[in-house]
Amino acid sequence: MEAVGIIGSGQMGAGIAQVAAAGGYTVFLVDREIAIAEKARDGIGKRLARQVEKQQLTQAASDAALARIHPSADYAPLAGVGLIIEAATEREDIKQAIFAQAGQVLAPEAILASNTSSIPITRMAATTVDPARFIGLHFFNPVPLMELVEVIPGLATSSVTVERTRAFAESLGKQVILSGDEPGFIVNRVLLPMINEAVFVLGSGTAGIADIDKGARLGLNHPMGPLQLADFIGLDTCLEIMRVIFAGTGDSKYRPAPLLTKYVEAGWLGRKTGKGFYDYSGEEPVPTR
Ligand code: NAI
Repeated sequence: MEAVGIIGSGQMGAGIAQVAAAGGYTVFLVDREIAIAEKARDGIGKRLARQVEKQQLTQAASDAALARIHPSADYAPLAGVGLIIEAATEREDIKQAIFAQAGQVLAPEAILASNTSSIPITRMAATTVDPARFIGLHFFNPVPLMELVEVIPGLATSSVTVERTRAFAESLGKQVILSGDEPGFIVNRVLLPMINEAVFVLGSGTAGIADIDKGARLGLNHPMGPLQLADFIGLDTCLEIMRVIFAGTGDSKYRPAPLLTKYVEAGWLGRKTGKGFYDYSGEEPVPTR
């Protein structure tokens, strides 16, 4: 496989594009509008430049990686790739519309993967052109730094698809764990209920944001607290994952914290909007409660 397509050029799509291009793949980076994909490519250029400054990458390698990324608003270039990774907004209707369009150009041997955090792979596969070539390929944020990738076969995914997908992730220097197709897979099934519980603790007035995060950092030895991590992930994404786990299990212990819904309704989605549980407009993040 020499070329990959990535649909959705947000935090995750751009991150995947960066590691794939650095790994030598030609990358077609698709978004709703070409301007969004071009902006994502500019962001990747800045991150690569920082790696050059830190002497983690040569200028030539950085230039070559950036030149391998082709922004697009059109699916036609994806006809020539061996793998299409969907990394668009965590909403099933959006993803299904993308799979329908991608299915029209997907090459006969090519794999269609979703970076979804939580939506059932088997259910999405059933709407695609070939469920045997559909799979979950779940990167972690920020993609260039996080070593883990979850690979999630659906009921119909072929073993060839699993092995080729695993080989792709490993070619980027990632470590792969295989997960069954259950709500939240492995890592988010453990992480998101913890973040959600932290929001319940905040909402009930038990503690403020700074102390909840300090508690997790110093009491659990986590590198960052759950509310700060939620801001990194995006609160809209966190809410969607909780909704999916709640709907998929039918267990009320997974109901989203009302305060999480409120932050999302306010448009306070975390770092990507400049404000979430923390306000990022100043030099240092300031807790919003
Ligand atoms: P984001 O909000 O940063 O980016 C989403 C991108 O999708 C935007 O650029 C948007 O314009 C684009 N998009 C929306 N509709 C589209 C369409 N019809 N066609 C093409 N592009 C479209 O979201 P983020 O965080 O990058 O998440 C993307 C996916 O990755 C979601 O499925 C999410 O659950 C998953 N994910 C997120 C992680 C995180 O920490 N944020 C970690 C692992 C997976």
